[in-house]
Amino acid sequence: MNTFLTLNFKLLATEVCDVYFYTKFEKMRIDILTVVPELLESPLNHSIIQRAKDKGVVEIHIHNIRDFSEDKHNKVDDYAFSGGAGMVMRLEPVVKAIEHLTDQRKYDEIIFTTPDGDQYDQKTANTLSLKENIMILCGHYKGIDQRIRDHFISKEISIGDFVLTGGELAAAIITDSVVRLIPGAMNDETSALTDSFQDNLLSPPIYTRPAEFRGWKVPDILLSGDHKKIEKWQEDQAYQRTKRLRPDLLDE
Ligand code: ADE
Repeated sequence: MNTFLTLNFKLLATEVCDVYFYTKFEKMRIDILTVVPELLESPLNHSIIQRAKDKGVVEIHIHNIRDFSEDKHNKVDDYAFSGGAGMVMRLEPVVKAIEHLTDQRKYDEIIFTTPDGDQYDQKTANTLSLKENIMILCGHYKGIDQRIRDHFISKEISIGDFVLTGGELAAAIITDSVVRLIPGAMNDETSALTDSFQDNLLSPPIYTRPAEFRGWKVPDILLSGDHKKIEKWQEDQAYQRTKRLRPDLLDE
């Protein structure tokens, strides 16, 4: 079954039978390793993510890599052997932090956020939302010692072709996009299935009251009450919008 079908199935199962959801799906756990935990506090402590944590569908643990440094100044960076500008994240504290977690449980993925990783997209978010335990290592400085990538990392992710000051914002984006897909995270679980990019289509335009504002009218069809016709209109609009704005999605 492909990821999206599995996701659908999971959501459907959740809707049809709560017992199935509670017995089959464990709570998801996300561990994030960083040298700047403060950067992750606000994005992961509000709105849907906070509610998902409160409801017990996900646990998010943030770990400060400095706590694993044996250096008396909690130093976590060092010069590159190759010379040149920029510091490198040291091997020992990162390895200690990772092994502290892997000694306690098995991880489905150990992700490293880096601009030279695989481009992140909705399909990857769908796939990750089906996992039980995920660890995300946030890159910082010029990069991390390559041996960590070689020996611990199962997936390297970039959120786009630009360079951030660190991988924390990328980790927050990945966590946000994954957690909202977990059954129970959102009040209306089916709404995740109508997001842009599910089915490789952008979302159709959306409107709320008033039906007319400054002479700008909501399309008549949406006021018709004919749900079949509205659905058809939405599908057409989604297709036209995708063709106009992101034709590359239709080629996939
Ligand atoms: N760290 C710095 N830039 C990044 C990017 N574009 N994606 C993921 N991690 C990063």
